[in-house]
Amino acid sequence: MITKPKGTYDLLGIDAKIYTYINHEIENFMANYNYDLIRTPIFEASELYHRSVGESSDIVTKETYDFVDRGNRCMTLRPEGTAGVVRSVVENKMYGNKNDCIKLYYNGTMYRYERPQSGRNREFTQFGVEVFNSNDPIIDAEVISLGYNLLNSLGIENVTVAINSLGDKETRHNYTEALVKYLEPHINSLCDDCQRRYKSNPLRILDCKVDKDSEILKNVPKLSDYLSKASSERFTKLKMLLANLDIDYEINDKIVRGLDYYDENVWEYVTTDDGITLGGGGRYNFLVENLGGPNLPAVGFALGIERIILNLKNKIDIDNLNNNIDVYIMSVNEEEKMQAIILAQNLRLNNVITEINSNNLSLKSQFKIADNLKAKFLVILNSDDLNKGLINVKDNATKEEIKIDESEIVDWILGNI
Ligand code: HAM
Repeated sequence: MITKPKGTYDLLGIDAKIYTYINHEIENFMANYNYDLIRTPIFEASELYHRSVGESSDIVTKETYDFVDRGNRCMTLRPEGTAGVVRSVVENKMYGNKNDCIKLYYNGTMYRYERPQSGRNREFTQFGVEVFNSNDPIIDAEVISLGYNLLNSLGIENVTVAINSLGDKETRHNYTEALVKYLEPHINSLCDDCQRRYKSNPLRILDCKVDKDSEILKNVPKLSDYLSKASSERFTKLKMLLANLDIDYEINDKIVRGLDYYDENVWEYVTTDDGITLGGGGRYNFLVENLGGPNLPAVGFALGIERIILNLKNKIDIDNLNNNIDVYIMSVNEEEKMQAIILAQNLRLNNVITEINSNNLSLKSQFKIADNLKAKFLVILNSDDLNKGLINVKDNATKEEIKIDESEIVDWILGNI
């Protein structure tokens, strides 16, 4: 037997139903917020990720799926969505209309060669939004609240937004200097990753999972003490906006994010009961320029769909997601079956959820299936009635049966479901 690759999964059963429900909710949400869908390729030139996600990030150093194509080009399966969207914004010159924000969302498969565990796969799905051309914290607040409200409306209410400010370039420069100086005498007692990050990206030492409880990391200088006036004001405005929008947030100065393109405000959506990070994002005001575009400020986030499915599995009313159907059409002989599929098509084209008997099942078995599917009405075809132009309908709740003229059956059902 050939089995699926490590870190991948087949989406099926109840997970598939929850996934469909999430996508449905996402489409409604994004229409209300007036964001446009964007779909970018699943693989891009490897250079894109080196120049955006960053040479010092774990994603680029340890986790990308790289391959050389038949034309000898270095390609990478996308580990995240932001870089591809920015590439597309630049390539398609979407920034033509200088006055408007460009508000985009995407929903697709990403690839990271990580150690698989619950909620961490090698192939996974992200829903993300990216907004370009506004540097105002009001857009940070819109984007943060969009993610928070979406999680809430999906049924995940035990979530908080952990926010932090990485400050502007000057802030990060000054803070990194102070951090390196503080860590210098201690660095050999920190983990291998910290020692590597000390040289490549010292800020990332702040979110080390191995040494997080060590006295050394507990006493690091505070990034918030180094914020420039402008960054500090920006962060204060964001907090005020989030409070006015009733968003449950908390300040967490250890959030530095694992991708190199961030600056200023960053955040993560974290569940309050089990501390799972469902998503994260932040500002990335220099990425468009770094990838050859104009100076275009931007902000966005992504949610991990698999983690949302895992969370919802324990709380969602699965019964509501099951295919409860409107009409089950019962048939036994060939003539009845022929009528069944024609009537089913008519009903389905009128938005009536309809199922038919597609095997040689006994009437008893068909009654059972109709009950399992929670059919509201049973259409019980029989040749005698059909010859008289009549159709037998049973209300599955009241058990009342009536005969309807064949030409009126669709209207009758539409009027009664
Ligand atoms: P990220 O924090 O790397 O950010 O990923 C966002 C979310 O994707 C995570 O919080 C998690 O829920 C999910 N995720 C990441 N890796 C895995 C995995 N191996 N298995 C399952 N789920 C995973 C980004 O990717 C940024 N592009 C977000 C962003 C958009 N920033 C600005 N715009």
